[in-house]
Amino acid sequence: MCGIVAYTGCHEAYPILIKGLKRLEYRGYDSAGVALSQPEGIALYKCRGRVEDLDTLCSSKNCEAHTGIGHTRWATHGEPSTQNAHPHLSEDGKLALIHNGIVENYLVLKKELVSRGYHFQSDTDTEVLVHLIQDTLKNEQVSLPEAVKIALSSVVGTYALAILSADEPDQLILAKKGSPLLIGVGDNEYFIGSDGAPIVEYTKKVVYLEDGDVAVVSPNKKMVVMNINDNRKKRRYLQELEMNLDQLEKGGFEHYMLKEIFEQPKAIRDSMRGRLNVRKDVVSLGGIIEYETKMMNARRFIIVACGTSWHAGTVGEYLFESLVRIPVEVEYASECRYRNPLIYEDDVVIAISQSGETADTIAAVELAKQKGATVIGICNVVGSTLARATHAGSYTHAGPEIGVASTKAFTAQVTVLTLMALCLARRKGTISLSDYHQIINSLEDIPAKVEQVLKLNGQIAEFAKFFVNKTNAIYLGRGINYPVALEGALKLKEISYIHAEGYPSAEMKHGPIALIDEEMPVVVLATEQETYEKTVSNIQEVIARKGKIISIVTKGDKLVKEMSDYCIEIPETLELLTPLISCVPLQLLAYHVAVLRGCNVDKPRNLAKSVSVE
Ligand code: G6P
Repeated sequence: MCGIVAYTGCHEAYPILIKGLKRLEYRGYDSAGVALSQPEGIALYKCRGRVEDLDTLCSSKNCEAHTGIGHTRWATHGEPSTQNAHPHLSEDGKLALIHNGIVENYLVLKKELVSRGYHFQSDTDTEVLVHLIQDTLKNEQVSLPEAVKIALSSVVGTYALAILSADEPDQLILAKKGSPLLIGVGDNEYFIGSDGAPIVEYTKKVVYLEDGDVAVVSPNKKMVVMNINDNRKKRRYLQELEMNLDQLEKGGFEHYMLKEIFEQPKAIRDSMRGRLNVRKDVVSLGGIIEYETKMMNARRFIIVACGTSWHAGTVGEYLFESLVRIPVEVEYASECRYRNPLIYEDDVVIAISQSGETADTIAAVELAKQKGATVIGICNVVGSTLARATHAGSYTHAGPEIGVASTKAFTAQVTVLTLMALCLARRKGTISLSDYHQIINSLEDIPAKVEQVLKLNGQIAEFAKFFVNKTNAIYLGRGINYPVALEGALKLKEISYIHAEGYPSAEMKHGPIALIDEEMPVVVLATEQETYEKTVSNIQEVIARKGKIISIVTKGDKLVKEMSDYCIEIPETLELLTPLISCVPLQLLAYHVAVLRGCNVDKPRNLAKSVSVE
């Protein structure tokens, strides 16, 4: 949600900023801008639209500079427009500022600043920050870093900030609270990013700023970090960035989303590596070892997450309840926070997030900690806010996910949840040895089975043609495949803008059946054995109303296949593990429908990958 990049050093800043913005564009792509330190003062270029549009605009401008800041925006306050694009300038034009986050008390601050003669050029909450800092500089007669600290102490909300000053042209001031900010340390140069993507090409040595930090960097000088909470200088240690440049490229695929769908066998294998040892009969997750006893004895698991991660959590509910036999509640993180939930000290909260930066999920984690619960994280981005905020946790090893619609992160999350459930069930004794053997053996085979499903890509691309002109779709699933139906529907609506609803198959008759006519595609997950007959009846009910059936069945299935207009056969596995396979054709289906409809698959309208505002 908004991407920040900045550079100061001996190289040309503009190419570094623009490349960084392109890598961060998945965080928002409503407008983009840069501010550059030049001998005459700050040069500001910004426009509505993509980073590519900004690059075109800048091609006719003087962009020479060794220090600069850049921003790609996901609009919160104020429509996407050039006026509302960052950076924002102070009244005297001497400060330029970029921001990721939300200034919650901006109206109060704005009123005050307007009464003191400041003129606002935009409708954003961000612009108050730059005027506030200038006002503090003027009134308090302090240095810029001091002024930033003082100004931020009256700000309510979240921020990651980078500030450029015409008076200190090679200096950058950075500040963080609630939104991520990393400083890459090069050879007498600094690379700043909302995450590692714009930094990794130049250095892997990074400092993760902490909440309340205000940092000052200039080439050839040591970084200085202070914290507004206690006004002391802080020592922040260098860490190794766990990311590779080739993970950020498309690797021959037309879109990141397709690449990431095809990376799932690897993502699942990597998430199992070192954790699942079938030969030795062991499932073990190093990150939670110290908390295993606490987890085994939990009164209840509460899974908090948003979006696709919430769907993975709902698969987790089925896994944990059936294997560990402890009650599970799955909560939207945003709902959990504001309803004063009952969370006890012997509850274990599992927070799931690909990015580790989703504001609602982080807020739910903080709340759970306040209530004394143990909080376990499942997250993909190493060193992210979630990873640092939880008591313990397990990383998914899916590698960077760039496509806004989450795919490989989902299967990696489900993999880690499966391993966690198995590990706890074994220790708790809620699973028989034979079931345990059977599940871990089947789990090991999953990546190969996903590879088989990926071979159906061509067939699914053909089926997608049927959806092109549709306006609605229903997805049905039962048991552990119900969350997969939700996820399939989410994928379709996110990237193709076709309205889609996921439902438990048997619930169709309580409402959605009213929508069925010859125009309605109904995607049915029909792999569940226990409820197979019931699903067959549901399919009949759709056919009787002339709906069109697109089914996902187990290879060799005859009955449902014959009843379907389109049928996708997936390899057989244990029921509990089917989500890891059955989600894949639904991802491919959504992808091909979106491509056929000419949608921007990797950057769907209005969405952002990392939603760091509540
Ligand atoms: C956004 C993304 C989704 C993602 C959700 C949760 O809405 O577009 O793809 O599932 O945030 O993100 P997280 O990083 O917490 O998993």
